[in-house]
Order: sequence, then C-alpha cells, then structure tokens
Amino acid sequence: MEGDLRGRSAEAREKRRDAASSAAIIIIFLLVALTHLLVLSSHFGATDPLIWWQQRAYAADGGPGGNAVAPDRLLSPDLEDNNPAACLSRHEASRRWKPTRFPMPPYLVERLRWYEANHRRCGPRTALYRDAVSRLRSAARNADHAAAGDHHHTCKYVVWIPTEGLGNRMLSLVSTFLYALLTDRILLVHEPPEMEGLFCEPFPGTTWLLPPADFPHKLDAATFSSRSKESYINMLHNNIIRYGYGDDARAQVLPAYVYLHLETVFLLTASVKLRLQNHTFCDEDHHLINKFDWMVVKSDNYFAVALFMMPMYRRELDRMFRAKGAVFHHLGRYLLRPGNRVWGMVDRFFEGYLAGADERLGMHVRNKQIFPVPPEIMFEQILRCAREHHLLPQVLATSEPPTAEAKKKKKNKAVAVLMLSLKPEYHDKLHAMYYTNATVAGDVVVSVHQPSHDGEQQSDARAHNERALAEIYLLSFCDRMVTTGWSTFGYVAQALAGIRPWMLLPVNRSKMRADVACVRPPSVEPCTHPQPLLLTCQ
Ligand SMILES: *[C@@H]1O[C@H](CO)[C@@H](O)[C@H](O)[C@H]1NC(C)=O
Ligand SMILES: *[C@@H]1O[C@H](CO)[C@@H](O)[C@H](O)[C@H]1NC(C)=O
Ligand SMILES: *[C@@H]1O[C@H](CO)[C@@H](O)[C@H](O)[C@H]1NC(C)=O
Repeated sequence: MEGDLRGRSAEAREKRRDAASSAAIIIIFLLVALTHLLVLSSHFGATDPLIWWQQRAYAADGGPGGNAVAPDRLLSPDLEDNNPAACLSRHEASRRWKPTRFPMPPYLVERLRWYEANHRRCGPRTALYRDAVSRLRSAARNADHAAAGDHHHTCKYVVWIPTEGLGNRMLSLVSTFLYALLTDRILLVHEPPEMEGLFCEPFPGTTWLLPPADFPHKLDAATFSSRSKESYINMLHNNIIRYGYGDDARAQVLPAYVYLHLETVFLLTASVKLRLQNHTFCDEDHHLINKFDWMVVKSDNYFAVALFMMPMYRRELDRMFRAKGAVFHHLGRYLLRPGNRVWGMVDRFFEGYLAGADERLGMHVRNKQIFPVPPEIMFEQILRCAREHHLLPQVLATSEPPTAEAKKKKKNKAVAVLMLSLKPEYHDKLHAMYYTNATVAGDVVVSVHQPSHDGEQQSDARAHNERALAEIYLLSFCDRMVTTGWSTFGYVAQALAGIRPWMLLPVNRSKMRADVACVRPPSVEPCTHPQPLLLTCQ
C-alpha cells in the first residue's frame, strides 16, 4: 500500500461512505493503532513534545494518585443555586467513577470559571450576541471591530458542526472547546435532532445551543466541506485573505465567517501517518483565523493534539494541563454530561446489575473490519487477554460446585462483566461459560450483562445515540476495561474514567490469530495515533 490515500475526501463524505472507503479507513485505523502501540518509542525521539506528553502521562497514570476532591462541586459551584434536577448526571456521575488519579489543575478551574462568565456575557439571548449575529447576517465587516481595537465590546464565536458517530463527535467537541478556551471564543453547538437533549447544558446560566435561524446558512454537516468557499484554505488559495492581512484592516473587509475543515487525511507511505491539511495548525494561519469573529468547525477527530504542537498555544496549555495525558479526562467530564433521559438508563442499569458487584470489568468489543474476524476467534482472544492479565477467574472443566468445606472458608466475591457489543454473541458465550463451569477459586461468582445489542451502528437515530452514550458512561464506571483498539467509543470511555484499558489487537490474517492478545496504551488520552504531521508551516 503506497501513496497518498485521501481516506476521507469531500466527495466520499457527502455521499454516504461506500463500502470500499470505509473498509480502507478501518484498515488504516488498525495500522495506525498498531504503529502507535508497537513502535511508538522507537519511532519518535524522546524530545518530541507529543511523546514526552505521553510518557509523562504514562508515569502519572502508573504512579500514586488519589485526588479525592469531589469533581462535581469543583466543576460547577454555581449549579447548586440553579436547577439540579435539570442535569442529574452532573451531581451523580462522580460518585460512580473511581477516584481520579489526575487532580484538576487549579489554573484550569480558573480558566473554566472565566470561560463560563464570558459565555454568559456573550451567549445567545444577550445584547452582545444580537450584535454579533447582525454582523454575521449582514455578511459585514468582521474587521470593523478589530480595526477599532474594540476587543472588550465584541465577542467571538466558534460554531461546532457534528459529523460521524457519537465517539467522533465527543472527541471533536472536546477539541473545539479546548480551542475556544485558548482563543477566547464562545463555543456554540449545532444540535441536530439525533442529538437533542443528549448532553446537558454545560455552562451555568446560559446556553451553548446555537439557534439555527441565527446563522446565515443551513447548519448541517453537508453544508460544509473542503470545497466550501468559506473554507479557510480556499480563501487563502483564492487570495480572499492573505498572511499579514488585517494588520491594516481598515483597508480590507473580511468575509462574515471562516470555516475550518478538520477532517483527517491519511498518508500511507513507509510508515503510517495521520495528518491534517496544510495550513490548519500553523501559528501564522491562526493569527489570521483569529481575526474572524465567527468561525465554523467540522471535524471527525481529536484535533486537540494538534493544538499542543502549536508554539502560540503551548504556554497556556502547559499551565492548564500539568498532567498532559488527562486533557480529555478533565474537559470531557466537565463538558459532556449525559442528559436526564440517558442518565435514567445509566442509573437503572448500574443499580440493577453492577452496583452490587465487588469488581466491575467492562468490555467493549467492536468486530467490524474489512474482513470481520469470526466471533469464535474474537472470543478466544478476549479469553486469552483476560487470562494473561488476570482479568477474570479461570473455570474448571466441571460444573460441580466446590466442596462444602471450601465454600465455608471464604466469602464469595462477585465480579460483574459489562459486555458492550452490537451483537449478542460475546455476552452469550461468556455468560454460558460462567453459568456452566465452576471457577477454579470456587469463591468467585461472575455475572455477565449486556444492556443492548443494536446490530448495526445508526448514528442518525436519537435513541441509538442515547443508548451509545449510556453505554460509554457505564463502561467508564468500571474498575477495569477491555476494548478494541480502533474504536472511538472505547477511547472516550477510557478517558472519562481515567483508566488505561487492555486493548485487543488485530489478528494476523495468515494464521487468524493475534500474536499478542492485548496491550495497554501508554496514556488514558483518546488519541492513539502517531503524531500528526503539521504540513508546511511558513
Ligand atoms: C502542502 O504544501 C506543500 C508545499 O506548499 C505542497 O508541496 C504539498 O503538496 C501540500 N500538501 C497538500 C496535501 O496539499
Ligand atoms: C466447561 O466445562 C465443560 C465440561 O463440563 C468442558 O468441556 C469445557 O471445556 C469447560 N469450559 C472451559 C472454558 O474450560
Ligand atoms: C503473521 O504470521 C506469520 C506466520 O507466523 C508471520 O510470518 C508474519 O510475520 C506475521 N505477520 C505479522 C504482521 O506479524
């Protein structure tokens, strides 16, 4: 496999993706995950900032931790006075998570409080917002305020457009929020019907929902593509904007908004690299982009990583995140609390099936590749991973109970397995195994539970998204996790939990068996890709 593969070209995205391109993407994800997992340390120098970050995270994750501050309080001191019933998960999720190893840096808390105040000042239904919308709608003069040096009386916005599956959406939304924090923009989200009420309003006393009628164009994923004339790169190519532009802004008028297209391009050459387009993460580009009051972002990935590679944001990021491997952990917990419908499912399932266990093991099995592995092979690998890492008790070749004598000596230990999969087969096999066979230790009782099995992923259906979010949260409440390495679902859950999972590796097709059943990634961060290439900065 050679050459430049535009795995996610604009054409392919606007149509439904055809089977070939989705298969290609999956292969690439496998390769990307493998490259990362197996050759990470030899591939990049230790001075590389991203690797340094991951190594630090590794140390932090393995080291002693224990930050017992109740994060809900820390995150939303104002909420007590508001309406706690509006977002139950904000108050209740924290007692379900294991205590986090990553203390919330005080400076980040300060920045979040500052952000919230700014959002209340500039958010929908404020006078400043109405001004900004009228400038946007009259397609006029973004540069006016910049020219007048009127920074205190204007507000800047970044509009997030959802695309792809729920996991991708959560990764790109958190990235966009980080971008908003760094650039003093207000994050506004477009909420299509399939996401309605999925997440709580994160900022007290205001809203993050963009009223669709306020925006001059139809707000949906199909409106924005790499070919949009508002795309930053197209404006640059067409000479509508230029570097150094706006320094004498009086002479020039910027378009009403800029669109930043941040979908991933994969390069298949000697080694697999994930890269973003030219001119998306260079300082000189962001100096220019920052001149726009309004911007729109559509992304399918965790581009937060790329922000860490930009000199202009590094200092601030270093202050905000002392433990670099916990960016999504902090921001995701802060931003992405499930709405009450989802929380109801989470709470009922947790109380009903998981709360009583002494230990909870979460498994997320995604067996959807170009050639899906037969379920027996996947199941064998799951058991091998569990055996090699002592995640589950071994069973005997008998269903007879241990002797009454042995039984008396010990108190039974209950292990609950949360099995998440689109198919029922892994649940059924594991359940049958622990139902039929006695465990070696005799005193461990294993129960296996699967909340739903939807068959196929359907990103457009609200109910499906609600179940998916409920399951991501349930997984994040487990003590230990087994995931499949190329799934954003697993990335989000591990980062919310702050736990490094055991990741099942792809099988070697020539013998239909994975040489190594599973490995642990170096950090809890979702991004397990190699360092993105930042192409050709000036
Ligand atoms: C990025 O820019 C460089 C230099 O201008 C050019 O050679 C390269 O083809 C560009 N890559 C893409 C993907 O546009
Ligand atoms: C469970 O017990 C049966 C015999 O009752 C045996 O054939 C089977 O191999 C056992 N399963 C495992 C996983 O050891
Ligand atoms: C797959 O297995 C074969 C046979 O053992 C081996 O020669 C080959 O190197 C393996 N491939 C990979 C990618 O590990």
